[in-house]
Amino acid sequence: MQVDLKGQTAVVFGAGRGIGEAIVTQLARAGAKVYVADLIEKNCAHVVDNLAKEGLNGVAVGCDVGKFEQVDGVMERAERETGRLDIVVNNAGIVTLGSFLETTQEEISKLINVNLMGTSNGLQAAVKRMQKYNHGKIVSTASFAGRHAMKEGFAYYGMTKAAIIYLTQAAAYAGADYNINVNSVCPGIIRTPMWEKILDSYVAAGQDRETSWKESLKHFIPLERGDQKPEDIAYAVLFLCSEYADHITGQALNIDGGASMD
Ligand SMILES: NC(=O)c1ccc[n+]([C@@H]2O[C@H](COP(=O)([O-])OP(=O)(O)OC[C@H]3O[C@@H](n4cnc5c(N)ncnc54)[C@H](O)[C@@H]3O)[C@@H](O)[C@H]2O)c1
Repeated sequence: MQVDLKGQTAVVFGAGRGIGEAIVTQLARAGAKVYVADLIEKNCAHVVDNLAKEGLNGVAVGCDVGKFEQVDGVMERAERETGRLDIVVNNAGIVTLGSFLETTQEEISKLINVNLMGTSNGLQAAVKRMQKYNHGKIVSTASFAGRHAMKEGFAYYGMTKAAIIYLTQAAAYAGADYNINVNSVCPGIIRTPMWEKILDSYVAAGQDRETSWKESLKHFIPLERGDQKPEDIAYAVLFLCSEYADHITGQALNIDGGASMD
């Protein structure tokens, strides 16, 4: 299977590091010009520098996904500069480990603003803009934590990810009349800066970082194939953005070593 995205324009939000950076790299290697958008602008520049080392095309853009105008503005710029918008990936996210009773009002607001409103903003802006092309692929990053509530915590994080799975279906209905595919991916646990933050809280509770990581893997992931990498998610996103996924829409694809089987 060879994915060819030559001549296509892609926008990836939450693209400055971790899973987002891996998604950018795969889309660019397949030939797309990628707008690399993130709250931390210097990270976008770093990702674009890495693309340039491979002779690939990227544009760094600062963007807070919680603000619709900024999200729409990145897509508007991509269209203005390239004359098209083929792919949008809503990957920005933040995490809070807390349980239902522990999570503070401030944490709940932040999670809703970034994870839920950020994705909603990306979905609405993308479907509206792609209608005129009668073509488009949109993928959002949910999580296995969005499949069902967990005793271990992630209460409001999981709620935002469950909402992304739901919104994926709603946006897929809206996009279907215009030949726009809308899907989401549900990663398992991947040791990006986000998971290092979770491990920080285990360390703060007196546990050893590496032991906590190994125990988390054992606890959550049935498939004993070692650590999942950001690339594992990026390959699935690349597939969903390709012609091979033309008949797939409204789906949430688990890429989690069996953590969730629904
Ligand atoms: N790492 C995992 O185990 C895991 C598991 C399931 C789902 N996910 C999801 O995958 C996505 C990527 O996570 P990651 O692990 O690479 O984490 P990460 O923290 O390394 O990357 C998240 C990126 O989102 C950006 N971001 C945060 N708030 C933003 C905002 N308001 N506007 C724009 N950008 C913003 C950050 O700056 C960062 O670059 C997230 O949506 C996360 O919830 C991760």
